[in-house]
Amino acid sequence: MSQDVVKRIEELREKIEEANYLYYGLDQPNISDAEYDALMEELIALEKKHPELITEDSPSQRVGGYVAKEFPKVRHGSPLLSLDNAFDGGDLREFDWRVRGVVPQVEYVVELKIDGLTVALTYENGILTRGATRGDGEVGEDITANVKTIGSIPLRLKKSIPRLDVRGEGYMPKASFLRLNEEREEEGMALFANPRNAAAGSLRQLDSKITAQRKLGYFAYQILAPEELGLSTQGEVLEYLKEQGFTVNPLVKVFSDIEDVIQYCEEMTEKRLSFPYDIDGLVIKVNNFAQQRELGFTTKSPRWAIAYKFPAEQVETVLEDIILRVGRTGVLTPTAILKPVFVAGSTVSRASLHNLDNIREKDIRLGDHVLIHKAGDIIPEVIKSLPEKRKGTEKIFEMPEHCPECASPVIQEEGEVAHRCTSITCPARQREAIIHYVSRDAMNIDGLGPAVIQQLLDEGLIKDAGDLYYLKHEELVKLERMGQKSAENLLNAVEDSKERGLAPLIFALGIRHVGAKAGRILAQRYGSMENLAQATEEELLETPEIGPTMAKSIVQFFQQESTGEFIKKLAEAGVKMTAEVSQKPQIFSGQSIVVTGTLERWGRKEIESIIEDFGGKAASSVSRKTAFLIAGEKAGSKLTRAQELGIPVLTEDEFAAKVEEEAGIKLG
Ligand code: IVH
Repeated sequence: MSQDVVKRIEELREKIEEANYLYYGLDQPNISDAEYDALMEELIALEKKHPELITEDSPSQRVGGYVAKEFPKVRHGSPLLSLDNAFDGGDLREFDWRVRGVVPQVEYVVELKIDGLTVALTYENGILTRGATRGDGEVGEDITANVKTIGSIPLRLKKSIPRLDVRGEGYMPKASFLRLNEEREEEGMALFANPRNAAAGSLRQLDSKITAQRKLGYFAYQILAPEELGLSTQGEVLEYLKEQGFTVNPLVKVFSDIEDVIQYCEEMTEKRLSFPYDIDGLVIKVNNFAQQRELGFTTKSPRWAIAYKFPAEQVETVLEDIILRVGRTGVLTPTAILKPVFVAGSTVSRASLHNLDNIREKDIRLGDHVLIHKAGDIIPEVIKSLPEKRKGTEKIFEMPEHCPECASPVIQEEGEVAHRCTSITCPARQREAIIHYVSRDAMNIDGLGPAVIQQLLDEGLIKDAGDLYYLKHEELVKLERMGQKSAENLLNAVEDSKERGLAPLIFALGIRHVGAKAGRILAQRYGSMENLAQATEEELLETPEIGPTMAKSIVQFFQQESTGEFIKKLAEAGVKMTAEVSQKPQIFSGQSIVVTGTLERWGRKEIESIIEDFGGKAASSVSRKTAFLIAGEKAGSKLTRAQELGIPVLTEDEFAAKVEEEAGIKLG
């Protein structure tokens, strides 16, 4: 192989890691996202051609791909302790008094207490070799593959040393959290209560590709045995961590008077919501390590540090009314109308009550005093009612028997918590269906907000989303507040949407249980609306990730006469109903895979071509670089060698399951 390739790979790795450091560490990006992606793509392509050049610290390892069966347990070099808590200035003064009893002259470092989870990192000879969760403080879980996907964690130290143990906080930025929950809601999945739970869930993903998508962050704040590196204060440790390429939270302050510490804590309490990540307090540490040693530890926590915890933002208000919103699937969602109140940074006057069960469980009555907060500091939620404040005039809420929008009967299906309007022609459902059809992940028609849709419905210009394609300029300009230009823009946006393709269109149809992701899977599997419309339940069930509920719902949807008419309307308007069934996902890109023993499902050539179709290289001998071994009956020395090297061994069926899981394709 030419030296040029080796050099180029090295160059790309350096450029990418430099960009990572500038972006995450210094918040000063030097290149655009597109340039970054181009570098990464080039690196992955080169490594794919030369898998023997792949190294553990190559930035290509950040995109994930390793699927664990479980997380091995790991014992921490020294236990991860927790901190004692302070809740107000008084507690902090007491802490200061205790500290000064031992070390009268003291300096405190005050850091933000990031609300995520502790992640312990180990570097050997400058290379990240292990990332672990806190666990019970003594024994955690090995989550190395997942940790590598976090952009702000260096895979290689700037200056290599034999060993470095770093501790810090892994977290999910608020923006990533909101986006993730939005997607989950759409796919009908359970929502994460807050960014911390979402970060924990993401770091405990068996499939590191999923972790990579979750865009986690990491702030480093501690190293083990700092004095062996000639560092004598926490301030120096933070500087050192930065020099080694870690991201250190910039809001660190040093004070020698506890009153200044208290003032800073109060200032940060005010500002807590303005950060792009959640913080649940501040950590106050004695700066000097010699003094820390003098102070020592209690059984569970250091005497040289304390956590100042923010007061939880819970406020009381009055529940004035409960209104019902009819969604596109006919679900009636009760929403609390609250006496406006300021909580966690904004005024709240509404909160979803989700369903009748939730109202009953919390015994929430009309007119009740209630306690509210923002879940994850973002989503308003009623925590509980305050029955002790009742006057006797409060009323128990009942679900109506008839839809508030169309008066059709409301039912609750067996096993469902939701109440639904039974009419598919309910105007509320139709309006919501159109709002969904034009939404970003569906047909993405700009300039068509709920208000304009309502106007179009009121004027009788549309009855369903299909009618959007038949709107005329002269009709639109007659609408109130609709100028020549906006009418034109709207028509252009509608026109553009015809080319979105099959996947978003399937999602846009609003078939119950079918989210955006299912839309993509179905489009890939069926290639056209016509094929999908004819699919049977049995066939659909063979598609990865399509379960019985979804399969049934899809078949039912296409059996309705109205569906056929609607699709015909779209087709006649020229809406594209096919998908280019793309090449197989390159899930084994850059991986060298060895097959051995007698196979049952496939011939040797056949399985090798499967490996290659998905981007892998079918190699003939096992080495440290082998990603995994597929072993059939009577496997011999290759199996032994793989076991010696600790390389994963898969049966044929496990291999098929892996392909299905990662590529969403079932092998025959
Ligand atoms: S120092 C022995 N510094 O808060 C002292 N902890 O109980 C070790 N945390 O779960 C902790 N930000 O993961 C420290 N700047 C910070 C922190 C921090 C968040 C977390 C830590 C642990 C808890 C402390």
